[in-house]
Amino acid sequence: MRLDGRTVLITGAATGIGRATALAMARAGACVVINHLAHSEQAQTLAEEIHQAGANAWCVQADVSQASSVDQMMVQLANTCPPVDTLVHNAGIIQEKPFLENTEADWDRMLSIDLKSGYLMARAVLPGMLSQGQGNLIFMASDLGILGRARFAPYCAAKAGVIGLAKSLALEFAPHIRVNAIAPGPVATAMLSPDSMSAQTLALELDIPQRRFADPSEIAATALFLASDHSRFYTGQVLGPNGGSVMP
Ligand SMILES: NC(=O)c1ccc[n+]([C@@H]2O[C@H](COP(=O)([O-])OP(=O)(O)OC[C@H]3O[C@@H](n4cnc5c(N)ncnc54)[C@H](O)[C@@H]3O)[C@@H](O)[C@H]2O)c1
Repeated sequence: MRLDGRTVLITGAATGIGRATALAMARAGACVVINHLAHSEQAQTLAEEIHQAGANAWCVQADVSQASSVDQMMVQLANTCPPVDTLVHNAGIIQEKPFLENTEADWDRMLSIDLKSGYLMARAVLPGMLSQGQGNLIFMASDLGILGRARFAPYCAAKAGVIGLAKSLALEFAPHIRVNAIAPGPVATAMLSPDSMSAQTLALELDIPQRRFADPSEIAATALFLASDHSRFYTGQVLGPNGGSVMP
């Protein structure tokens, strides 16, 4: 699956699934834009790894939940790299909390980072894609956006929203722009660690037919497929690399 001549912007790309996706896209020949929030060092190391492999990569810091930050990022990119034709909107956070303990601020933070950011990123890249006459948006949802989970209501609501956003954009911007979502099952990243969630939740996450967490590269492989022409008849779809956690 080759992506030569393509420019892929990946949000939250310094770590986890985003990092694996950046590497997969670069290995397939794409120019890669590594958006990061806090992980400047990891982003630089990733860019160097990609350069050493013979591909182009740029790092750009931005908070994707803030319109002004996203707009500044796009201005910066306009002066540094070829026009973005593929977006992998992957940045996100998770928080485990009993529903009644959530504050309004918890709710707003989750919805801003995990859902509103999708609107801001789509709004930022679509005009350029429309003027190129083609484009590809890939949104990172979650199996929890389909299943729901106790103590994760804001996260699940945001990820369900991401799926609705992807389907609506697929309808509105067809036929030249494709829009799909990925709803991974459990993936071995910082998000799925004892620092981020309880032992009870981690045990639930492992309670799937394949009885293991995915490697981030297994989710990157789905993103690569969606970015490539091999998926050219896919739009408005939710792909589930999930070890069997969801069976539609
Ligand atoms: N790990 C899993 O089990 C799992 C399962 C389903 C879906 N996902 C989704 O996959 C995506 C990647 O998560 P991950 O597992 O690689 O975890 P991760 O924590 O390694 O990656 C998330 C990245 O998003 C970045 N980020 C957070 N807020 C940001 C902001 N406002 N602006 C820019 N970047 C921001 C973080 O700095 C981090 O690099 C997330 O959207 C997550 O919800 C993960």
